[in-house]
Formats: sequence, structure tokens, C-alpha cells
Amino acid sequence: MILILDFGSQYTQLIARRVREFNVYSEVKPCTSDPASVDLSKVKGLILSGGPASVTDADAPAFNSEWLSLNVPILGICYGMQLLAHHHGGTLGRGAAREYGPSTVTIESSYGIFDSWKKGERLAVWMSHGDHVEKLPSGFVSAASSGGAPIAAMYHATKPIFALQFHPEVVHTPEGKTLLKNFVYGSAKCAPDWTPENFIEQSVKRIAEQVPAPAQAICALSGGVDSTVAAVLVARALGERLHCFFVDTGLMRKNEAASVMARLNELDLSVTLVDARERFLGELKGVSDPEKKRKIIGRVFIEVFEEHAKSLKGVTHLVQGTLYPDVIESVSVRGPSATIKTHHNVGGLPERLKFSLIEPFRELFKDEVRVLGRELHMPQEILQRQPFPGPGLAVRILGEITPERVRTLQEADHIFLEEVRAEGLYAGLWQSFAVLLPVKSVGVMGDGRTYEETIALRAVHSEDGMTADWAFLPESLLRRVSNRIVNEVKGVNRVVLDISSKPPATIEWE
Ligand code: XMP
Repeated sequence: MILILDFGSQYTQLIARRVREFNVYSEVKPCTSDPASVDLSKVKGLILSGGPASVTDADAPAFNSEWLSLNVPILGICYGMQLLAHHHGGTLGRGAAREYGPSTVTIESSYGIFDSWKKGERLAVWMSHGDHVEKLPSGFVSAASSGGAPIAAMYHATKPIFALQFHPEVVHTPEGKTLLKNFVYGSAKCAPDWTPENFIEQSVKRIAEQVPAPAQAICALSGGVDSTVAAVLVARALGERLHCFFVDTGLMRKNEAASVMARLNELDLSVTLVDARERFLGELKGVSDPEKKRKIIGRVFIEVFEEHAKSLKGVTHLVQGTLYPDVIESVSVRGPSATIKTHHNVGGLPERLKFSLIEPFRELFKDEVRVLGRELHMPQEILQRQPFPGPGLAVRILGEITPERVRTLQEADHIFLEEVRAEGLYAGLWQSFAVLLPVKSVGVMGDGRTYEETIALRAVHSEDGMTADWAFLPESLLRRVSNRIVNEVKGVNRVVLDISSKPPATIEWE
């Protein structure tokens, strides 16, 4: 594998993705990790990421320099390059030559990872740095230069150490993939054997060993991509020893509980439907505070699940569709990020029930899980499903949740999705949904005055839900949706459009 040490750059995960696109396994560790915490026999190359700090600052992240004596090829990117330069006795310059955004570098030496280009060739690159290497460390050779960074890339004359001031992992550096590929295949000599088939085969074997018969496992299915693919994969290893539950909270989209169950039943999984609609709505009665809603739903979910889990004999393991971004976020360089919202993904279950966890996707990104799902012959309908929050419509009904308001939102949301699908836009959007606002406004219908509820439409593009941009939907679609909602949904007389990106807004309204 290629090990990536994270110095806090917003692009670190992108490096991991790029390497995996070459069918080579890669993992990100915080730069503060100890080399002793890693199975070094598996590491064939090391990448040092970018980061917001200055290498010479007092608050530069802690770093164990033993990483640099591992005897594997090293690639430093931006901060990583400055760290290498500093470590090997070079000089860093600051300030005057800041560069952010597109730039051009000229190749000065066609060597190592740079040997795909001739000396004098110019490459478009993406720069984002304040500091730069001013004087080369001894033993190093300049490989490329730019206006703002005379030493825009360098390498060691005799050891496999390379460094780039610019970011090869972003799409704005078109030749970046070739540079990374040259490092991964050429310098680190990794073989492209990390494929979906291999992953499935190895996971099935590992899970079967982890849960020897007659031990049983359980899984809470949401009908979403992650938990469903996880269940299908685990079922390959455990067969009938995996028991799945689908909890209908009453906070699903219109008709969704039934359609999710129908789809799950086609997958040869043993799924029990738990109808907990009244219980959830009862507990949420009169609650308007967003965090209180989330906490109540999390608690009731655990209670319901626990009751069912206890009714089974011999359960030792719990399957969860935890993804890599969920894991990595909690070990960020600067410590865990502030809690913006309490995300509930059956979080408290393992501690409470003392089950061991099976998390086959702890190292995967969402798009990789979709690829696995295809490999497991799962229907597109499940794999392309837009993310849906655990607390469901509760976080899209601002103010009090009543059965009537749930119905209002379900109807409006259904119309919006129907039209988005008809326009062929569903799969291209990260999410598209309706929100019921706690605002009533005056309208006129026929000849009469109305005073009714407001629906907001939200559609966003996103890579991973961490950041998002609002989607520019066709005017004709918006007109149809607005007309239909006001005409067909009782109690709604106004439709508004949410045109906020994340940050500063979030995707969900609560
Ligand atoms: P926000 O609203 O924080 O959402 O921008 C980011 C992504 O996460 C989804 N989301 C959740 N998913 N449990 C989940 O499993 C939750 O509690 C939860 N809250 C938000 C949201 O739909 C978006 O895709």
C-alpha cells in the first residue's frame, strides 16, 4: 500500500482516491502518528500531504522524523515538500511569492517521476502555498520551476525522494495523475491488484473467520447504499447467520418503507420490518429543537433495535456501513471537528449491546462502495439512491412534527422527486428534497385568502457531503414543481428555492 501522512490539507483524501484509482490500496494517517503503529512491511511508498501550517512555525503539527528513514520512496506535496526540504537542510522562503490557483511550471529535469516530460516542457498546475523552497537541500536537484516558486519540484539525486510544490491530486493539474502514477507504479513499484473482486474475496474470507459458526450477526438496514451493500457482502460470508432489521420510523419519504422492503427482499437477505412509526412520532410530539429531535430519534432507534436484537440467540456481531470519511474525520490533524449536528448512525449500539463490529467499508469511499455493489450484482436503484439522513424527514420538518406535517412534506417531496426523475436529473444530483418550513404566509387561491405552510426545495451537488453547491435546476422544472405542489398538496400555498452552498449553510436544514 501507499501510506499518506495527513498534514491537514483539504485535498488529502483526494490523494488517497487518486492512488486507489490506480488499483493500489492507500491509507491516510494523521501526520502525528507513530511509525510503530503501522505494519511497515505493507508500506511500499509514503506520501506527505499538504497542510495549512508553516514547517518552521512553533505550532507546526508534530511529526516523527523516523518516517523519513523508512527506506521506501517518498513523495512530498506542498507542505510535504517544504518538510522534506527543511529536514534535509534546505531553506524556505515565505510571503513574497505566495501563489494560489492556476500556474505553469517548466520541467527542468526529465528524471524519475518527471520522466514523462522533456526538459523545457510546460505543465499547467494548481498551486496553493505561502511558503516555498528557496535553497535546495544538499543532494537534491530542481525538477521544475514556476514564476512564484523557482524550485517548484525537486528530487534527490540518489534516493527515491520526490517533491512537488503544486498539487498533483486536483483536476486543475491535468498531468497530476501521470505524476502520481509514476510515483506509485514506477518508484514505489506497486502492482495494480487492489480490485473490487479481490476486495470482495478477501473481505468474505476475513468476515467468515471473524464470525465462526454458530455465531450470529445483525445489521440495521436503512435501505441506503452503504448499509445495504455491507449486508449483501456480509451475507456472502455468513449466509443465514446474518439477520437484518429495517426500522420504519414513520419519517421516511412517501411510500419509501414499502419500496425499500421490496428491494431488500429481492436481495436474498433475511430482513425483518419493524414498524415503529407510532413510537417515534409519539416521542417527538411537541419537540421543535433540532438537536433534541436528533437525540430522541437516536435513542429510540437504539431502544427499538436492542429489543429486537435481544430476541435473537447467539448474536455476537453488529454490521455497520461506516465509510472512510466517517473514520478519518474523527482523527483529523487538529483533533475532531466541532459537532455541527449530532449524526446518528446507530452510533451508541456497539457499546450498549457489547457486540463486536463488522465494518467492511471502513477504508472505502462512497463511490468505491457503489462499485462493489455493482460487482455484487445489486440493482442500480439501490446503488444510485441519494443519501438520506438517519433522522429522516424529522430534520426536514422545521418546527413541530405532527402526522399531518409529515404527510404534507411527503407529498411535496414526492412531487419534487418525481419531476427531478422525469427530467433525468436524479442520479446526477447528490441530493434533492423538499423541506417544510415553520412559516405560514398569506396567499390567494380562487377568490379567497389563504394562510398556509411553505415548502423549500433543495438540490445540491457534492462529492462527499462535506461541502456542497446548490444545483441550478431548469426553470421549466421548477415551474412545474411549484405549480404541482401548490395545487396538489393541501395546506401549502408557497414554494421557495434554497440557493445556499455548504459552507456556510449545511445540506439539511436542521
Ligand atoms: P449536513 O446537513 O450536515 O449533511 O450538511 C451532510 C450529509 O449527511 C447527511 N446527514 C445525515 N446522515 N445521519 C446520517 O446518516 C444523520 O444524522 C445525518 N444528518 C445529515 C445529509 O443528508 C447529507 O448528505
